[in-house]
Amino acid sequence: MAGKITFTMIKPSAFKSNYTGAILKMINEAGFVIRAMKTIKLTKEQAGAFYAIHEGKPFYETLVEFMSSGPIVAVVLEKENAIEDYRTLIGATNPEKAAEGTIRKLYAVNMQQNAVHGSDSDENAIIESDFFFSKTEWI
Ligand code: CMP
Repeated sequence: MAGKITFTMIKPSAFKSNYTGAILKMINEAGFVIRAMKTIKLTKEQAGAFYAIHEGKPFYETLVEFMSSGPIVAVVLEKENAIEDYRTLIGATNPEKAAEGTIRKLYAVNMQQNAVHGSDSDENAIIESDFFFSKTEWI
């Protein structure tokens, strides 16, 4: 059964361009409820740990540099069928392949600076939410 929780980050490029409000508006209008949210600047160590699953891939080092280059917004979201519906809302990882009207199509710079992260499974949504938030920080 599909879970109700997903995790997203508004990435440094989108934050710096002041797209945070527009992105959160799209998220709310798509029916997601914000369960926890914070703005934080990751250290390189924290960004590396969050993306540890990609360690060794050609883009890992630059991804860590980028994700620690400025503030991000970390958000836990709730909705029925959260993982799939959020991935539909944000569009493909590569913004050139993202559908019209998706968050990445509208606000991404390129494959790496692709505006937002979205969890790829129920299991990872909880792991990623726990990375940023204690349960007392959820509403
Ligand atoms: P995200 O959804 O945050 O998950 C992993 C991130 O790695 C992805 O979005 C992109 O920002 C980045 N990424 C994945 N593949 C590539 C790639 N081929 N080149 C550059 N960055 C990538």
